Amino acid sequence: MPWSRFFKHSSQTPALWLACFIGIAMLACGCSFENLTRVTPGSFATPQDCGECHVDITREWTSSPHARAYTNPRYRQATDDYHFTQCIPCHAPLPTLTTDTPQARADSRELGVSCVSCHLKDGAMVGPQQPTGMVKPHPITVDPKAFEGAQMCGRCHRGTKSQWAASTIPDKHDCRHCHMPEVTRTITKATSEISRLFVAMEKAAAEHRHSFDLAPTIAADQAIILDIVTHPGLANVTLTNRLPHNLPTGDFGVRIVTVELSAIDAAGGALILDSHEFTSAGGAVVPSGESMHWSVTIPANAASLRAVAYRQGRDGADRVSLTQRQVAITPTAQTQPEKGAATHP
Ligand code: HEC
Ligand code: HEC
Ligand code: HEC
Ligand code: HEC
Ligand code: HEC
Repeated sequence: MPWSRFFKHSSQTPALWLACFIGIAMLACGCSFENLTRVTPGSFATPQDCGECHVDITREWTSSPHARAYTNPRYRQATDDYHFTQCIPCHAPLPTLTTDTPQARADSRELGVSCVSCHLKDGAMVGPQQPTGMVKPHPITVDPKAFEGAQMCGRCHRGTKSQWAASTIPDKHDCRHCHMPEVTRTITKATSEISRLFVAMEKAAAEHRHSFDLAPTIAADQAIILDIVTHPGLANVTLTNRLPHNLPTGDFGVRIVTVELSAIDAAGGALILDSHEFTSAGGAVVPSGESMHWSVTIPANAASLRAVAYRQGRDGADRVSLTQRQVAITPTAQTQPEKGAATHP
């Protein structure tokens, strides 16, 4: 069949012309993207390579904990300056989709948990969505199942994966829901004349940010619940964990979630009454779906009480506020506790 007739009868004529044009443009500039899927000794695709087209995703990943998994000073210290090689498999892994146990890589360890660690399998990039664009500079396998539940993250986050599997909270979400917030956009962005051709015709769809937030605050507000009931001279505090994992979670190092209770007087002055700590070391955690209760003595001049929950590492690093709650203490509550005096704003 002559090409002219093929084009004439095809309903996709403009698309085919564009594809031909892109093909010729690629040949003309000698483009080859073979390096993107190569994981051989001495050659490991870098996130910078991917960032030529996956602009937003690469920017997010660059400031995520996964980018620092190997260079993190705490990791360096804990491995006695990189002497413990048994730690490398999760902190600088080869592609993980091909195996249930991450394998250490010999090259480019400073890239940490990089793009191909999570996406490359059998020479193709595995993604959750059907591509909508014209041209694929690298082979693509569509396999949404590979990203569901806790299986992908759980290859390295083993303790958290077990907690997730055991959690029986209603509407249990997978890890992406909170640690990779949803966003609508195209998969690639044009940065040059060549990438402009690749992006052509792509449609925006629901994607997930690659921020891997340490403590996603949007989720924390609804999933970490602070309750305060006041009685004369006393406050009963309840912390409920509706996350699908321990509060705090984490297998390595020490993470502490602190609930700080302060009394606010009529003039607005604050006095810290109590600091209650939950820590991943030693098992003093709030398991998924459970609550912890404790009582705090409150001064007579307190007009309101404020509870703030925050997360940090043992050395005080990475402090992130999780949620807070303030309740007024009414005079009734001070004098007539037996008549349902608890304040519930
Ligand atoms: C820790 C594992 C992990 C790392 C590292 C990672 N990704 Fe992803 N990526 C995922 C997951 C999980 C999804 C699925 C999100 C979804 O369902 O939309 C995804 C989705 C994608 C998608 C499809 C768009 C979307 O959000 O659905 C692209 C493209 C992508 N990643 C590229 C990259 C690039 C480029 C890098 C490096 C800069 C990278 N990824 C690093 C886990 C990872
Ligand atoms: C020259 C541009 C370019 C480069 C460089 C590039 N990609 Fe892509 N990638 C694309 C295009 C175009 C698509 C298909 C988008 C579409 O058609 O919707 C894609 C699709 C993907 C998908 C599948 C998303 C899905 O859900 O279907 C993944 C995963 C992915 N790329 C990862 C990577 C990784 C990792 C790197 C770096 C090693 C990389 N890409 C480098 C252009 C590029
Ligand atoms: C290949 C192993 C690996 C995979 C797969 C992986 N992670 Fe990680 N992740 C790590 C390592 C190692 C760190 C520690 C980085 C650091 O701070 O040094 C980390 C850190 C994190 C952190 C910050 C917590 C902290 O205390 O530093 C979050 C949140 C996180 N990962 C979420 C995810 C999610 C969500 C997924 C699945 C989409 C995932 N990870 C997949 C290895 C992995
Ligand atoms: C409902 C939202 C939500 C879901 C779903 C979720 N997390 Fe979390 N995650 C949080 C919040 C909020 C925190 C901060 C409090 C904490 O440390 O427990 C957190 C903390 C973490 C931390 C960091 C612990 C620290 O303080 O350094 C890791 C690692 C983590 N989650 C991994 C995962 C993995 C893996 C999954 C899937 C199996 C997952 N999370 C599912 C909300 C969520
Ligand atoms: C099975 C995979 C895996 C192995 C093996 C592993 N790690 Fe990790 N490491 C992680 C994950 C996932 C995180 C982040 C969340 C958590 O703590 O669960 C992490 C976090 C850390 C952190 C905390 C970084 C911070 O910001 O506080 C240190 C330190 C660390 N690892 C050191 C080590 C050392 C030392 C070894 C070897 C003895 C090791 N890891 C082996 C998966 C692993």
